[in-house]
Amino acid sequence: MAYPATSSAALIADMRAELQRIAALPADAPQGLPGVFYTDPSFFEYECQTILRQGWQCLGRADEIPEEGDYYTIQILNEPLIIVRTGGEIRVLSNVCRHRGMPVAEGAGTAKRFICSYHAWTYALDGELKRAARMKNAGFDMANCGLPSFPCEERMGFIYVSLSDTPSDLDAELTGLNSLVGAYEPDQFRLVHSAQEIWRTNWKCLVENFMEGYHLSVVHPQTLHGYTPTGLSKKAVSGPGFTSYNAKYPEDAPTRGYGSSGLSDAERRRSSLYSVFPCQVASQAATLLVSLSILPLTVDSIDVRWTVSTYGDDLDEDTLKARIKLWEDVNTEDREKLEKMQTALGSRHATGGPLAGEDYEGTVRDFLLWLARQDAAT
Ligand code: FES
Ligand SMILES: [Fe+2]
Repeated sequence: MAYPATSSAALIADMRAELQRIAALPADAPQGLPGVFYTDPSFFEYECQTILRQGWQCLGRADEIPEEGDYYTIQILNEPLIIVRTGGEIRVLSNVCRHRGMPVAEGAGTAKRFICSYHAWTYALDGELKRAARMKNAGFDMANCGLPSFPCEERMGFIYVSLSDTPSDLDAELTGLNSLVGAYEPDQFRLVHSAQEIWRTNWKCLVENFMEGYHLSVVHPQTLHGYTPTGLSKKAVSGPGFTSYNAKYPEDAPTRGYGSSGLSDAERRRSSLYSVFPCQVASQAATLLVSLSILPLTVDSIDVRWTVSTYGDDLDEDTLKARIKLWEDVNTEDREKLEKMQTALGSRHATGGPLAGEDYEGTVRDFLLWLARQDAAT
């Protein structure tokens, strides 16, 4: 594929054709995407207006906001959002005042109502405008000035939102995932840690990195190789909107907690890594559930919001601290690789190399096939 100096519309058309060509390659001869898919700002803009807006995005864990009025704020693409619990359910509201556009909430906390810091318009927790002092305007109708809400679903204890008015059926997207992680009872896990950081990488690079076991022993010799070595990676189930693989523990590795009583021995002796496309990657094990929400900022930067949750009281405080530290170290190791790779992907020689087989990089191929299917439907 050549990239002549041309209009961005022509470049995007070329790239869309290239995506379909790569997706059509035989399963035993898979190829990765050329660097331009990870570095071109106009292609990123195109993704923002298509797959990233249309897809379901994981925002975090439902137990981050356990009580009435608990909320936190987040931004996805150009949409500032408030995630709030009210009336026993979670709602996702636009965090843009209907008066002149100020964010009406910041950070996280507990509120009885949201009061805009600019002219004090006051909204109920469900977004309804309740008060707008000194407003004299014949065209002003309070009833039409509530904060819009976005489609929101709760699955496996995670909160998902779509920025689209016509999102796909989330259950259909996740068909088959329950067979992999249902027995772990992910909705019973409780939050023990969350963090947010900016990484200088394209969003797709982190999806691919998290989802392949090929790099585990190379990039994580001290942190992960001992219990999830590359050689024990095994591709697992994929569905319309997700992919997964199992990172098995060696026979002689110590057990890592009991977890749900419904788990088999095999399930206790592995971590199941999955991605709910486009932007969630997660690792499910008996007593630890780690999830990263990838919030794309620019073509080469992402906001990574990640959580660690645990099952019951299997793990004591010190063990939990050690597990969280381990994941901090693992993320640091991955981040360092991805930030270096981002620069190299700008080369004209980053043409998209051959992928390793099903167990090692079959998940990356699944992701590319999903990208191609979504794009064909655009
Ligand atoms: S911008 Fe919010 S009250 Fe004016
Ligand atoms: Fe990694």
